[in-house]
Amino acid sequence: MNVLVLLGSLRAGSTNRALADAAVAHLPEGCTATVFDRGAELPHYSEDLDLEGQLPEVAAELRAAVAAADGLIVVTPEYNGTLSSVVKNTIDWASRPYGVASITGTPAVVMAASGSPHAAEWARQDAVRSLKIAGAAVVEDTFGVGSSFEAFAEGRLVDEEADTALRSLVGRLAPVNA
Ligand SMILES: Cc1cc2nc3c(=O)[nH]c(=O)nc-3n(C[C@H](O)[C@H](O)[C@H](O)COP(=O)(O)O)c2cc1C
Repeated sequence: MNVLVLLGSLRAGSTNRALADAAVAHLPEGCTATVFDRGAELPHYSEDLDLEGQLPEVAAELRAAVAAADGLIVVTPEYNGTLSSVVKNTIDWASRPYGVASITGTPAVVMAASGSPHAAEWARQDAVRSLKIAGAAVVEDTFGVGSSFEAFAEGRLVDEEADTALRSLVGRLAPVNA
């Protein structure tokens, strides 16, 4: 299984990157995981760019990566009550061309880390809605971690119960794909 991680934080010390790492660590042996780390290079989506001969190389790379993926792990911080614009823009690029988009039917799970105790619930809800409308086979259940600055140590979640919930969500990528 080939998993693509879409990461919404560009920050060097990102707790969402720590969450992505902890999620990838739960993938079964034999899975490969790649982080799409060119989200900041994607121009804001425009139909004027989404034309043969105009398509930015980074957008073509994203679409090829999504097409090659058996599953997506979408990890987003919450900014002002919704998902990161980096993730939203990435979903928008992956959702076109209409009718033949690479994201259509791709299984996806959503997770988020937030400095606040609310665990980025709004960002997760909005990411699920956007992915669903984009055509992904997104799992409705999500995983959120609050108070994220204290939540990670040595590449994993400190709280065992939370780590078990994360493992369980990651495990749902495969059955959705079956
Ligand atoms: C512009 C901005 C808006 C934010 N809005 C929210 C918010 O609505 N809800 C929330 O829980 N945290 C909010 N935060 C705090 C983030 O949860 C916190 O910065 C988090 O660490 C970002 O993820 P990262 O560690 O992966 O960069 C906001 C942070 C920024 C910079």
